[in-house]
Amino acid sequence: MDLYEYQARDLFEKYEVPVLAGIVADTPEEVRAAAEKIGGVVVVKAQVKTGGRGKAGGVKVAKTPDEAYEAAQAILGLDIKGHVVKRVMVAQGARIDKEYYFSVLLDRANRAYLSLASVEGGMEIEELAVERPEALARIAVDPLQGIDKAKAVEIAEAAGFGPELVDKVSDVFVKLYAVYTGEDATLVEVNPLVLTEEGDIIALDGKVSLDENADFRHPGHEELEDKDAADPLEAKAKANDLNYVKLDGAVGVIGNGAGLVMSTLDVVAYAGEKHGGVKPANFLDIGGGASAAVMAAGLDVILGDPQVKSVFVNVFGGITACDAVANGIVGALQTLGDTASKPLVVRLDGNKVEEGRAILRDANHPLVTLAETMDEGADKAAELANA
Ligand SMILES: Nc1ncnc2c1ncn2[C@@H]1O[C@H](COP(=O)(O)OP(=O)(O)OP(=O)(O)O)[C@@H](O)[C@H]1O
Ligand SMILES: [Mg+2]
Repeated sequence: MDLYEYQARDLFEKYEVPVLAGIVADTPEEVRAAAEKIGGVVVVKAQVKTGGRGKAGGVKVAKTPDEAYEAAQAILGLDIKGHVVKRVMVAQGARIDKEYYFSVLLDRANRAYLSLASVEGGMEIEELAVERPEALARIAVDPLQGIDKAKAVEIAEAAGFGPELVDKVSDVFVKLYAVYTGEDATLVEVNPLVLTEEGDIIALDGKVSLDENADFRHPGHEELEDKDAADPLEAKAKANDLNYVKLDGAVGVIGNGAGLVMSTLDVVAYAGEKHGGVKPANFLDIGGGASAAVMAAGLDVILGDPQVKSVFVNVFGGITACDAVANGIVGALQTLGDTASKPLVVRLDGNKVEEGRAILRDANHPLVTLAETMDEGADKAAELANA
């Protein structure tokens, strides 16, 4: 889960990373009040989960509360790479002398953490990495050792900080690493980390991604979730513990096992080319236990998508045998009643496939078509979606 800048700022503060005052606001009036409260020069900053806000006009300096009001009028409602700004943060203005870069992230390929740091911050780090890779230090961090003071000094020196700054910035790196491990993050990035004219090191912009697999250790993380922004169908699926991702097509897909569902998406997309270019509408893995309740919850989510015109249920019976899955489908259709109004193509294979097919044939539900193979099922579902 990616956090907004203001949420990252609040987490930084909790770990004593030096930050400036920041107040979130949703209207120009609230922005004016926040600017009055902070006093002096402020910066009004779009809160969207994408980069390059400054370039897109989403970061504006305001010398007075009235200027902050005007800045808010310009920024609220702005579309930044498809993200409409609904909220801004009014941040205390810093007198910047220099801008640096620091991050620590999960390096899956090397089964370690990686810290990136540079004395050339501010600009987009992706550009710096391509244009002047030598200006970006990359230091592997052993997860068992972490970033202690000595490691932080090593990073600061590799990044090119002068001896007068190494001590100060390395203290901040240690605190940022405390955020990273303390919150089970997969990314903590500060761009820019600045040196002010007063000689202080301050994190002016933060990006934090949290590892959702560790949510059980952090009851507070639930509050950070952006419930408004989440797709309502995805939210409903999550509430039912379903692995669902909304896509843009017309063929709903339900399967068991992530690998099977992924290949079903491919097969449906391929079949769709012959049927008006229809595409899969979602990813939905109902996992091992394809009970009536789970099947009903899955179908309910998929049928709630107005773009869906047909559904392809593609299940391979393993530990959960096909007869149980077939009973699940029949039970789900009963539970859903009139809500189930779109054609269903069902392909079963594997453990107890004959029994499963017999159950569906006997039920003889008007919406259900049986398919022998995955290709045949995908083709039928695509055809029905295009009808
Ligand atoms: N509180 C502040 N005081 C003074 N200047 C600021 C402040 N916040 C940001 N700036 C200036 O604005 C620039 C852009 O701000 P920021 O890094 O927050 O956004 P961005 O880099 O455009 O967005 P993103 O990091 O999402 O790509 C900074 O590099 C800095 O020069
Ligand atoms: Mg930035």
